[in-house]
Amino acid sequence: MRLLALALLAGATLAQARNPLATADQCELDVLSMELSKDPGFEPLKKHALNQYIKSLKKYNVDITDAVMKDLHLAMDELVFSSVQKAANGDPTKPKVYWTDTAARRHDWFNLSVPGGRYSYDNPDSIYRTVPIDGKYKYKLKGRRFGNGTADTSFSLIKNVNSQNTISTILKKDLKVKSDGTYEITISSEDIKENHLKSDWTAKQIFIRHNLGDWNKETPDELEVEVLGNPKPWVPRTNRSIINDAKNNLKQSSFFYGFGALDFKTLSIPLNELKSPSQSQSLGTLTSQAQSFGHYNIKDDEAYVITFNGGKSSYWVLPVSTMGLLTNDPEHNIVSFNSAQSAPNNNGTYTFVLSAKDPHVYNWISIAGMPQGTLMLRWQGLPLSDGTVKDIKVHTQVVKYNKLHEILPKDTRYVSAKERKQQIHERQQGYQRIHYQ
Ligand SMILES: *[C@@H]1O[C@H](CO)[C@@H](O)[C@H](O)[C@H]1NC(C)=O
Ligand SMILES: *[C@@H]1O[C@H](CO)[C@@H](O)[C@H](O)[C@H]1NC(C)=O
Ligand SMILES: *[C@@H]1O[C@H](CO)[C@@H](O)[C@H](O)[C@H]1NC(C)=O
Ligand SMILES: *[C@@H]1O[C@H](CO)[C@@H](O)[C@H](O)[C@H]1NC(C)=O
Repeated sequence: MRLLALALLAGATLAQARNPLATADQCELDVLSMELSKDPGFEPLKKHALNQYIKSLKKYNVDITDAVMKDLHLAMDELVFSSVQKAANGDPTKPKVYWTDTAARRHDWFNLSVPGGRYSYDNPDSIYRTVPIDGKYKYKLKGRRFGNGTADTSFSLIKNVNSQNTISTILKKDLKVKSDGTYEITISSEDIKENHLKSDWTAKQIFIRHNLGDWNKETPDELEVEVLGNPKPWVPRTNRSIINDAKNNLKQSSFFYGFGALDFKTLSIPLNELKSPSQSQSLGTLTSQAQSFGHYNIKDDEAYVITFNGGKSSYWVLPVSTMGLLTNDPEHNIVSFNSAQSAPNNNGTYTFVLSAKDPHVYNWISIAGMPQGTLMLRWQGLPLSDGTVKDIKVHTQVVKYNKLHEILPKDTRYVSAKERKQQIHERQQGYQRIHYQ
């Protein structure tokens, strides 16, 4: 045991220079989550969650094909693991920084294969990290930014690890970073002007987002947390109490995502349509973010064309997700485009084609094997005042695949088979650089 711990620490020190996500705490929490997720008590709750998703789909007459069922089963497996991950880093007297909500991955640095733990519209651009908080205590979060940091970054203090419910937020534009890239954020009930998250008795977690625009260049910040004043835990946390917290997370997730995100937010929008975005703080979205939800059903000889603009946002992303609200193998497929990855039209808008067959358009999202799916477009870094999303317009159209050339803008950027291969290769390299290396 001691040897193992030493080996982990040595590994962590070596790996630290390579990847800020490769920490000994990450490894420890992943191992614990993997062990605890084997508890048979999750099975009935997983079935219950599956039934909630199916109920929502049936309500809107979605054809629950074998492909949809397969996507739902994967989503439920990931939902269970995410529920355990949310509970595993749950002791605010021994806080750790834990990277969660990510697709199945392999830690090269610890030779560990970790299952996927995504839920409710994962964003392939995002590195999400969590820190447990108790409003009674003071904390210090130490960070180090590499270069100019990531396209968007935010630190949200939340009340509920499943539905979020933000108490306070620090946005990238407001974070004060020293010239050497380091910064410190304090978390307490005090009123402090700079780099501070004001907490109260309802605070449960800091939810940290790093959205990477250019996957081959940007790196998430290095983060470390410290609780001040050496608090004594009242009740020692046991594996049983972590499992019970995880079960509670799974129950809440089933409602918040299977009903809230899928039924209320997504399927209630007419098929193959997207409304211009709105700003909302409900269901785990960021306060400086606007979003537009939708779902599609596209035949093999059809294409779904989406055009929109970025407005005043500093970063936006268009990911395509399954009926289980997860992106489909974002490492190997082009299932998302963000503001740094897309080819613009001459007037600054962006046009995307979703189709099973490759139309040789640069901004193509493959829905091969996924004729039905969901969408959550996000625009971030918006000014907080009302009305700023009014100048973002979204337009959608379904056309026959062989009529695409008639409706696509004249200035559409096309790619050769070789350029497509290169585009996918660069995506994989970027993904691996962030997640594994
Ligand atoms: C990594 O783990 C795999 C499977 O658990 C094992 O076969 C392999 O030998 C390990 N590699 C190293 C370098 O430890
Ligand atoms: C950071 O941003 C500055 C100003 O926009 C730019 O000049 C510089 O090249 C950027 N550095 C990196 C490493 O991207
Ligand atoms: C909790 O489970 C982990 C993983 O199985 C194990 O290493 C650890 O000893 C357990 N902790 C307690 C207090 O039983
Ligand atoms: C911008 O160009 C696109 C593609 O040509 C077109 O669909 C859209 O209507 C234009 N938008 C504006 C505001 O001019």
